[in-house]
Formats: sequence, structure tokens, C-alpha cells
Amino acid sequence: MFPEEVKKRILKLRQEIEQHNFNYYKLSQPTISDFEFDGLMSDLIALENKFPEFSDENSPSQRVGNDISREFEQVSHLYPMLSLSNSYSETEVSDFVQRVEKLSGEKPDYVCELKLDGTSISLSYRDGELQRAVTRGDGEKGDDVTANVRTIRSIPLKLNGDYPATFEIRGEIVMPFAVFDALNIERVKLGEQLFANPRNAASGTLKLQSSAMVASRKLDAYFYSILGENLQEDGHYELLQKSAGWGFQLSPHAAKCKNSEEIHSYLAEWDKKREQLPFATDGVVIKVNSKRVQEELGYTAKSPRWAIAYKFKAERVSTRLLGVDYQVGRTGAVTPVANLEPVQLGGTVVKRASLHNSDVIEGLDLHTNDLVFVEKGGEIIPKIVGVDKSNRDPLQAAIQFITNCPECGSPLVREEGEAAWYCPNEDGCPPLIKGKIEHFISRKAMDVDGLGSETVDLLFQQGLVCNVADLYELNKDQLVTLDRMGEKSADRIVEGLKNSTNIPFERVLFALGIRYVGETVAKKLAREIKSMDQLQQADFAKLISVEEIGVKIAESIINWFSRKEHLELVERLRKFNLRFEAESNLKEGSTEKLKGLSFVISGTFKNYSRDGLKADIELHGGKNVSSISAKTNYLIAGENIGPSKLEKATTLKIPVITEEQYIQLTD
Ligand code: IVH
Repeated sequence: MFPEEVKKRILKLRQEIEQHNFNYYKLSQPTISDFEFDGLMSDLIALENKFPEFSDENSPSQRVGNDISREFEQVSHLYPMLSLSNSYSETEVSDFVQRVEKLSGEKPDYVCELKLDGTSISLSYRDGELQRAVTRGDGEKGDDVTANVRTIRSIPLKLNGDYPATFEIRGEIVMPFAVFDALNIERVKLGEQLFANPRNAASGTLKLQSSAMVASRKLDAYFYSILGENLQEDGHYELLQKSAGWGFQLSPHAAKCKNSEEIHSYLAEWDKKREQLPFATDGVVIKVNSKRVQEELGYTAKSPRWAIAYKFKAERVSTRLLGVDYQVGRTGAVTPVANLEPVQLGGTVVKRASLHNSDVIEGLDLHTNDLVFVEKGGEIIPKIVGVDKSNRDPLQAAIQFITNCPECGSPLVREEGEAAWYCPNEDGCPPLIKGKIEHFISRKAMDVDGLGSETVDLLFQQGLVCNVADLYELNKDQLVTLDRMGEKSADRIVEGLKNSTNIPFERVLFALGIRYVGETVAKKLAREIKSMDQLQQADFAKLISVEEIGVKIAESIINWFSRKEHLELVERLRKFNLRFEAESNLKEGSTEKLKGLSFVISGTFKNYSRDGLKADIELHGGKNVSSISAKTNYLIAGENIGPSKLEKATTLKIPVITEEQYIQLTD
């Protein structure tokens, strides 16, 4: 290849990998298998190694995934949390064994452990008590999720027996299949988006702001690594066995192996038996047992030389593509779904497979009647991962993505940078109408107790509700005519709707479902523009004068209020007494004493809960930010303040004040 071509290929690979990272980590909707992703990554690494002139410190090859969120305190790991190099064949595993033997000059024992597919966690213990729980983050720093981790029953808060004074223990937090299935059933009822797999459900749960909610999700944890000074055993396996006596639940079914043959028979055994496990696994981790040999072997830049991950192959079958259906989601996004000749896969009969979006159809170059390969990874819906083009009937045409909405016929639109095509007919297309109503009643919006997506479907089918204002005209007699609706449930809905008239203006605004007006934007608008009337009259200049409101949002708001049906809707909602005035207009005690000042809070406080303190800052016109920057005005330090925040404030010379000093500011 010419250098120019190499460069182009590298840039293309980086862009592709970033997109897949985004799909995986942010959207939780991967469009390729792990196997294919690793293939792209190893192509990139190979090219970058061969042509160092094109290296870039921001290349996706330079970083492992990142799960840092803003709400948690970030802390540095005492020992970095590395990842493992992956292998997909028995030969690669034998190569690993040979390499270990060559480098160490001995034939050490190995430990095979199931690779649990959850989210990794590092716990530190001091004098037998749990001190801190930190996620992997970027491997160097992670989120302090101690409060959430404490809710996991199988994690010991106090240890028994003969434990070291200080040490770290690492393991995997998982959501067992049974809990995952029940959670998704619940989410269907609430009209919330489903978790794609137990891994996403576990990591999503661990990052929830409410630890009570975490507790209700019934996570579990299994441990596989202990780090510290002067540990009592040289054997990794033996040390772990000992830690079971201190109170830890170990990664189950670990086994010691003497050589490649024993390792291979472990892999073969668990490739089958893993289907019976109560949690998801995606491979086996093979480690050198002796810590002394581990140290001798050391590390490459990203992973240890003494361990390797063997990934199970996702089960794959081939079948015929009969055609493609298009489903319109509640947001208007159109998802193509493949209809397949029924085929047995992973214990179930598969008839449909997800195709995600039009790019995926094009990328696969799908034609009707193609012989396609279908895979079932950790995801609920199987996916098409390839086409056998050699078997293609030349008379069959390529699948063309539809141009009009299959529900209402409107021409579909696609905005720049978006993967999905959308139906734009928000007030006339049935799934979108139902979606709007579901959004309106959802917990973060009007929080209408007793109403869920099934009832919304029924109400819509019966013609009782066509928009959100119709909800407030419902009465008990109408409700009890619905299928499976008892008197009590009907009462609850009527009561729930009545209570929703106390929901503050900012949430009413969010509930309307104006494009780009999410929770935060709604809050900002409510604070600055203060009432529905003023918002309706606000012109473009007024709207963009509000902090963080840009052209796109301003245009969307003006556009929304320019439609007659929306004005009628607003007038009806006003009649039903929904709150159309901002809280700060009404709230007692509100001042502008902190106007223009931004605060970061850290630790726990005597006079306030953390949320209470944040609310108080806002009540006085101040702004809460989650991480310290040069623009922050004050860090309010509570008890047990995070050391990294304090350090950053000192470096940036941000004043650190106590809770008492804060109270003086607002007095
Ligand atoms: S050892 C340097 N052991 O797989 C040692 N990891 O890419 C790295 N995992 O982030 C970890 N089961 O989340 C290890 N028995 C096991 C594991 C395991 C699952 C996960 C872990 C890690 C990733 C490795």
C-alpha cells in the first residue's frame, strides 16, 4: 500500500471504531459483534505499529473503554485496572502457554476462570471493613460508587478471619438472567426502553443516583483477583480460596490446570455448560497461578503477559432472508427487522433479526432471499452478521429502505449525523401519538401513578385519548370499560392525574415533548422565562439569550408554538390547572444572592442532604456543576470530601468553603 492509502485506511478504521464505541457504550446498541470489533481494533493496531509515522495519541487504540460519568466522585486506582488481550481459538491459547513457558523458563500451573459478562469493580478494605468501591473507568481513574455497592448483598461490608490489614479485591458485578428478565418485563409495562443485555443493565444500575433503586435491582458480585502488599499466598487460586473464608463470593467453577490440554478441555466443557449458568458469560480467563511468575512475566502497555481471555464464539447459523419489515418506534425512529426462515439458535427458534438502521442494510448489501448468517450474542434479539453472496440468486433485487412511514405514509426524514430515519408526523402517526402520551405520563415528566403503556394503548384504541389533554377528561366510568381494568385501578389513575396538576412547571414543559427540550433545557427555560405565556410569546432573540439554548432549540420551540393544534392543547391543559408558572416565581425564600456563581459540592453535610444543598443553591439563583474547572466559584466541602476534588480546587486556586460559610453567603 502507498503511504497515502495507509493513512486513509487508518483514519477510516479510527472513525469506524469510535462509532462502534459510541454505539456500544453510549447507545447500548452495538451493530457488530465483539469478534468483529476486536478484528477492526487489531487491524488498526497492526497498521499503527507498522507505520508509526501515522500514530496519534487520540487514536481509539490508545484507550480502553470509558465509563466515567459526571455525578460520581472520580478516584485514582492504586493499581491500574488493565484489560486482557483476547483470543478466539485454541491455537491462540496454546501460543499463550508456549509464550509463558518460554519467557518464564518454567512450566507453571494455570487457573481457568469463567469470564463473567458484567461490569468490573475494585473494592478496598482496611482493617476488615469496606472502604471504597470504584468502577474501572478509564483504567486509571474510576467512579466512586461505594454507596451503590454497599447495597449488593453478596458483598461483605465486614470481613471474618485472618484477612490482610489492607488490600484490594476485584471482581464482576452482574445482573443474573432472572433479575434481568423481570426488570425488562417491568420496563415494558412502564413504557421504558429495554436493556439490551445483562451487562448494560448491571453497569446502568451501578451508575444510578439512587442507591435505594440499586438495592431493588438485586445485583450480584463475584470476585477473581486480590492485590496488596505481603499477601499470604503465592498462588492466586489459593489466595482466592482463602478470601472465601473472609466472606467473598468467588467467581464460580474456577479450576487449576497443568498444561494446554487441561486448559482446552476446560474450554470445551464450559462452552456447552455455560448455557445452564444463571448469569451471562462471554469466555474464559486463563491466568498463571503463581504471583511470583506473574511478576516475572510482567505487562505490556495494556495488559498482563500472564493472562489471556478466550472468547466463546457467539452461536451462528445460516438461514434465508424472507423480507424486511419496518417498525415505527414511539420516537418516530424506523427500525428495519428481518423476517427469516425459522431456524434453531441457542435453544430457541429464531424468525426475526434486528437490522438496526438503513446503513446496516446497505453495509451488508442485503438482497431478498439471501442466505444470511445470524448470531445470538448477549443481546435479546439476534442479529444478521453476514451474507453468503456466493449463493445469491442474481435475479433478486437489493433491499431498499422504505421512503414513507409504514403507519401513516408520511415521507421519512433523516437529519445530518443521525443513523435513523424518522417519521415526522408527530401529531398524526399512531405510534408517535402513543409515544408522546407515554412520555407525558412518565416518572420524570408528569409521573402519573397507575398509568402505563398498556393502558395508553387501550385508551388510544378505544378512541378515548388522542392527545395528552384528553387524559384529563377521562372519568372512572370510561376507565372501567377497558379490558382488565378494575375499580381500584381506575380510581388510582384518576387520582394520579389529579395529583399530576401539582407537578412543577419545568416538568410540565419537559412533558410536552417539544423536540430538544429535555429535562435540563426545560429547567433552564423555566428558570429564565418563568411561565408558559411568556415562553409562547418569546421570540428567537429572547430564547437564545437563555444560557445553553442555541439556535436548534430556539427554532424547535418557536416551531412548536406556531402550530394551531399545539396552542389548543396548551389552552386545554391550562383549563385542567396544570402548573404554567415557574417554581422560582412561586417558591418562598427564593433570592438572587448567588446569581452568577457556580458551586461544586463534595462530601456529606450536617444541615442538608446533598440534593437539599443543591436545591438551596438553585433557590438562591446559583448554579450547580459536577466537576471543578477554572470557572467554578466555590467548592463546598462537607465531611469525607473526595481527595481528588480538594486537590483540583487547590491546584486551580478555587476557594474551598465549609457548610457554615455557605450558609453565611445566603443569609
Ligand atoms: S482478570 C489484568 N478475571 O474481563 C487482569 N477479568 O478484559 C484483568 N472479567 O475488565 C482482569 N471475569 O471485567 C479477570 N475471572 C476474571 C474475569 C474478568 C470477567 C472481565 C473484567 C475485565 C475484563 C478483562
